[in-house]
Amino acid sequence: MGDKRISDNIEQALNDQMNNEAAQAQAYLALGVWAEANNYTGIADFFYKHSEEERQHMFKFLEYINTRGGTAKIGAIAAPADNPTNLKECIEDVWQHELENSKKIYALVDQAMAERDWATFNFLQWFVKEQIEEEALIDGLRDKFALASEDKANNANFYSLDRDMQGASQEGELPRQAEL
Ligand code: FEO
Repeated sequence: MGDKRISDNIEQALNDQMNNEAAQAQAYLALGVWAEANNYTGIADFFYKHSEEERQHMFKFLEYINTRGGTAKIGAIAAPADNPTNLKECIEDVWQHELENSKKIYALVDQAMAERDWATFNFLQWFVKEQIEEEALIDGLRDKFALASEDKANNANFYSLDRDMQGASQEGELPRQAEL
């Protein structure tokens, strides 16, 4: 890959985020197992697919670090958090994860800008856009949950919410607008 063209600090920060994405993949995998065990098979399907998306994010960081002459270092991944107690808590936890992940991406952008590392800055723009979609995706799930719980919360509503999530797109729905 040639000489290293990222600073040690950027290399470390990118590696940290690569491992964060791996942790996200594990977290979604664990939630998929929890959902399946609770008979939310559509939501389990959604989380399993999303776990794969997070794994792809991990690979994007891995490839970028190596392409810039750095070394991707695969670290230990902390065990996912305890299982949620109910679907509402599950969805809110996921929402918080995504907001936290957005903050981590923005901190990386700040760091790349401070170092005038424009290659890394440019690479990270894909993730800035991706986090807009991820937040929209999970916020959409929160909206669906709120609708299902409204007025007559009953098993039928949750059943149809779960069916809705089966095979649901992994892309967040953005307002009708020109391409971002
Ligand atoms: Fe890779 Fe859900 O952020």
